[in-house]
Amino acid sequence: MNYKDNGKVLQNRRIIDGAQLYDMLIECPEIAHNAEPGQIVHIACGEGTTLRRPISICETAGDCVRLCYEVRGKGTKWMAERREGDTVSLLGALGHGFTPRDGKVLLVGGGIGIYPLLSIGKTCQNAKALFGFRNVSLINSLELFENNGIETSVITDDGSSGRKGFVTELLRDELTAGGVSQVYVCGPKPMMAVVAKLCAGFGVDCQVSMEERMGCGVGACLACVCKTMFRDNEGAEGEKYKRVCVDGPVFDAKEIIWE
Ligand SMILES: Cc1cc2nc3c(=O)[nH]c(=O)nc-3n(C[C@H](O)[C@H](O)[C@H](O)COP(=O)(O)OP(=O)(O)OC[C@H]3O[C@@H](n4cnc5c(N)ncnc54)[C@H](O)[C@@H]3O)c2cc1C
Ligand code: FES
Repeated sequence: MNYKDNGKVLQNRRIIDGAQLYDMLIECPEIAHNAEPGQIVHIACGEGTTLRRPISICETAGDCVRLCYEVRGKGTKWMAERREGDTVSLLGALGHGFTPRDGKVLLVGGGIGIYPLLSIGKTCQNAKALFGFRNVSLINSLELFENNGIETSVITDDGSSGRKGFVTELLRDELTAGGVSQVYVCGPKPMMAVVAKLCAGFGVDCQVSMEERMGCGVGACLACVCKTMFRDNEGAEGEKYKRVCVDGPVFDAKEIIWE
């Protein structure tokens, strides 16, 4: 069920110096009480921006949703300028989110891709987070996970904190150690493609949160399609475009055709 809510901004704080990252808490009871992990809201970003902008729900708390976002252009700049008490128009919670699984699960995130993983991590009993950042100055929000009992391991591209390398190296180690029942991943597409391939190689299920530019947010305009593979009743394989806004953003990694 989608709701259109005029949410009240309760907080909109800069997360770290040196990066345009913000943490916004919005009171919007209908969306907050109906959202599932991995779903998104579509936000109207002022008069000069025709299309709403999609942002993943980081977590819900009572009547509120937390959105963590990076300023990229006009819409997210407008969001960053909102102050406590301002009203924002939200459509949500949209899309198909993460499916919770039992056993040991891994949250694999890169950059702003860490935020959509919080809710599903909180839902699962035994979650561990593996996060990659470009350098030490961009490491942020680990406490959101750790305060919920989720152990975090961090790797940086340049080795300025933790091991030097990419998050896929931490994942390979965990998969090699064994016992992993499910991987949830969100981040840059090339990283997710490698994660999907690694999981397939180890026979571990993987759910990916896809990001495509969006228009309507409700399945009507086809702006947000990604290429997927399907198998018909006779076992013949073919390609099919699916809409990230309603069929996703979360897909089984085996479905995605990475290109
Ligand atoms: C399902 C989904 C979930 C998302 N969740 C989050 C989130 O939790 N936090 C967050 O910070 N951002 C998230 N985004 C990205 C966010 O929607 C865009 O950054 C935002 O729409 C940019 O709007 P803008 O007006 O600020 O920038 P624009 O002026 O529209 O664009 C600025 C630049 O960003 C690029 N860009 C814009 N949108 C996208 C996109 N969807 N994918 C790749 N590049 C893009 C443009 O090509 C351009 O170079 C999500 C996107 C999707 C599709
Ligand atoms: S954004 Fe219009 S169909 Fe997905």
